[in-house]
Amino acid sequence: MATAVQTRNTLETLAAKIDSRTARVGVVGLGYVGLPLAVEFADAGFSVTGIDLQAEKVKQINQGSSYIQDVPPEQVRSLVEERKLAATTDFAVVADLDTVNICVPTPLGKAKDPDMTFVMEASRQVARYLHPGMLIVLESTTYPGTTEEMLLPLFESGGLRVGEDFWLCFSPERVDPGNPQFHTRNIPKVVGGITPQCTNMGACFYRQALETIVPVGSARVAETVKLLENTFRMINIGLVNELTIMCERMGIDIWEVIDAAATKPFGFMPFYPGPGLGGHCIPIDPFYLSWKSKQAGGEARFIELAGWVNGQMPEFVVSKVQNALNDAGKPLKGSRIHVMGVAYKRDIDDVRESPALDILHVLRSRGAQVSYSDPHVPRLTADGLDLSSEDGPEAVGEADCVVIVTDHRVFDYSSIAQSARLIVDTRNAMKGIAAPHIIRL
Ligand SMILES: NC(=O)c1ccc[n+]([C@@H]2O[C@H](COP(=O)([O-])OP(=O)(O)OC[C@H]3O[C@@H](n4cnc5c(N)ncnc54)[C@H](O)[C@@H]3O)[C@@H](O)[C@H]2O)c1
Repeated sequence: MATAVQTRNTLETLAAKIDSRTARVGVVGLGYVGLPLAVEFADAGFSVTGIDLQAEKVKQINQGSSYIQDVPPEQVRSLVEERKLAATTDFAVVADLDTVNICVPTPLGKAKDPDMTFVMEASRQVARYLHPGMLIVLESTTYPGTTEEMLLPLFESGGLRVGEDFWLCFSPERVDPGNPQFHTRNIPKVVGGITPQCTNMGACFYRQALETIVPVGSARVAETVKLLENTFRMINIGLVNELTIMCERMGIDIWEVIDAAATKPFGFMPFYPGPGLGGHCIPIDPFYLSWKSKQAGGEARFIELAGWVNGQMPEFVVSKVQNALNDAGKPLKGSRIHVMGVAYKRDIDDVRESPALDILHVLRSRGAQVSYSDPHVPRLTADGLDLSSEDGPEAVGEADCVVIVTDHRVFDYSSIAQSARLIVDTRNAMKGIAAPHIIRL
């Protein structure tokens, strides 16, 4: 056990290294979250080492290129050339690092329970090389209590003590890929530590590279903040999707309803319906909360219900397509259906959990001939699909029905409106273009 003087020295040494930006920073997991974070700290003057299991990603970074749309390759190249950024597959570098941020995936298991394999594996590797004077921050989205209940015992198992020899925090990542206004640097960063000094150290670290820091009282609070944010979105989208189905039965235009409601200057925030929830955050993270709540003997009924409603949306979209074709005197079976946009949201290249995948599957299983176009996703090989993007105007013109699933900005909606025979628009991308062959959700 460290003496009070030793602890103070260790703490002051790390704080001084962070303040002078001489601390050696490590980021474990160089994906949509980890690479932008590594680049921000390298840009702020730190020497940053990224660690990833995928040798191809490591190679690309060391060659000065980027595989993440929001991270410009020129920025990676100049940081690599200045020796501010490097990557490796070898965890032994942790022995030379002062800080480590863990940004690995947290998917769901088959029974919608948290799959902590990646976090635990990465943490085990970090624990092997943990040494006095380190700050460790978990950024992967997870259930309340993970940092304290799972990571802390692991990091203390070698004899070092939190708050004395090392500092441990949770800080949720809020990055929004494809968002031109908000990115890692200017999104306020919530951080909560195991001890108050852990929180202070975490805040001191992030302050060097990010604009606004929001310290909270514990790692558990920080973990719950992220889940509240994503659950809030999931439930409100579920509500508006349910209203969309109700409005269809009553012959009411949901888009007009939302636009008018959004004129209320207080107490209302618009959410919009869509073809289903995509991405690896909103459809997944709330189940981390409901899982933990069940462990504590509670039920998370809103979450389960919203998950169910949102899960119905791909079927609802296909039924819209089927009805539209029937009205035009064509069966769905044998029809050519062209899906526009397969990424899970606008202007990005990520297809994880994208509702387009479900829609394509259902259309195919009902005998339709499917094709798609998405300039951000040239090839689609997910979930048993193997298709290439057909970006020419012929695909739109020749289809019996065009389904707008993702409203990318690069699509020319007025020319699509002119050349398509029938359009089902799940995003109101055709707003302002009224024509009988355009059917909105
Ligand atoms: N992408 C987003 O928009 C976003 C936003 C907020 C929060 N998050 C959360 O951040 C976390 C990471 O998400 P992501 O989108 O960056 O994932 P990602 O799949 O893009 O990247 C994760 C990286 O971690 C690497 N990895 C996996 N196991 C590893 C290990 N044991 N050691 C080293 N590297 C390992 C993978 O090879 C991959 O490169 C998740 O918990 C996610 O829910 C993501």
